[in-house]
Amino acid sequence: IEIKVEADAIGKGTYPTFMLKEIDEQPAVMRRISQHYLPVDQPIAIDPALIQHVAQADRLYFVAAGTSYHASLVGKRLFERYAQIPAEAGVASEFGYHWPLLSAKPFFIFLSQSGETADSRQVLVEAKRRGLPTLVITNVANSTLAREADYHLLLHAGPEIAVASTKAYTAQIAVEAVLAKAVGERRQLGAAQSFDLAGQLALAANAMDEITDNHQAWDQLAAEYLGSATDAFYLGRGIDYDVSLEAALKLKEISYVHTEGFAAGELKHGTIALIEPGVPVITFITEQATADHTRGNVQEVKARGGNVLVIASEACQQAGDQIVIPTLTDELMPLVTVVCGQLLAYYATLQRGLNVDQPRNLAKSVTVE
Ligand code: G6P
Repeated sequence: IEIKVEADAIGKGTYPTFMLKEIDEQPAVMRRISQHYLPVDQPIAIDPALIQHVAQADRLYFVAAGTSYHASLVGKRLFERYAQIPAEAGVASEFGYHWPLLSAKPFFIFLSQSGETADSRQVLVEAKRRGLPTLVITNVANSTLAREADYHLLLHAGPEIAVASTKAYTAQIAVEAVLAKAVGERRQLGAAQSFDLAGQLALAANAMDEITDNHQAWDQLAAEYLGSATDAFYLGRGIDYDVSLEAALKLKEISYVHTEGFAAGELKHGTIALIEPGVPVITFITEQATADHTRGNVQEVKARGGNVLVIASEACQQAGDQIVIPTLTDELMPLVTVVCGQLLAYYATLQRGLNVDQPRNLAKSVTVE
């Protein structure tokens, strides 16, 4: 197999690390995905056979690992809202050995940056053996999963070198949104027809630009909230919970700070016992429907001395919030909120003098089950 990669696409350029370069590339990736899949005044650029096949499904099964699994949690929400097809997301290493009872017309969607993850491939092989339809969304065109699935969609994120995945996550969410809109339109759903995805991706790209333009501020926030931390929490509800899991994974995998992503309302059912003075609790508040409840959880944490950093959307903003970001449709908020988590993890790691691009014990692509 000949693998062609442009040399300048895998160099660090003027960046000190691949991770920072890849974080900063995200606005360009959003614009590239928009240009590729959402050409102006033309139909969405996805194989009509794939759109039709997904539109006929009665349930979608997302299967993925690590960061890609976190992107599939967002995918579930996107497809349920814009395509109105029930969906579930499974961790590949669990799914492979504990298959759920399937619906009558299932459709399998695999998310994998590398297209090589053995846990995901194991499920793909079994799905094919059972004659079930499969799609892989991947960043590597000639990868094993891309070759073996019935359909594949490319992320167009460019090579991702840092072990901690960043731009692949946001690209996965954007491409999931494109397919959800296309399927919803095929099903003639108003929610999909009126979904201005190109506009939303442009807004997301601009918001990402604003965040990544200010490295120094993130360096300072990381020092202030995570400087001496040995434990940390990310909280959120709904879509903010999904991104909390990813932000927590970023922080733990490179800085080795023990971090948990938690459903804000669930904290009080046990884990709040761990909140003591000074523990950093980073809270995402971008969902208007649950914002007041999450504010209540913030108060509970503050009452126990937790060091709370609030990242809120403009629509949910209150006086005293440290970070305020532009408002997108709920399901696309992770495109912006995750960048905050990526930069906090990045600077917390640098401040500890650790290797950002190659954390201990981890590999970019895991080809054993
Ligand atoms: C490894 C990487 C993670 C990644 C996961 C899934 O564990 O360290 O960053 O999220 O594999 O990889 P994939 O290539 O399937 O998205």
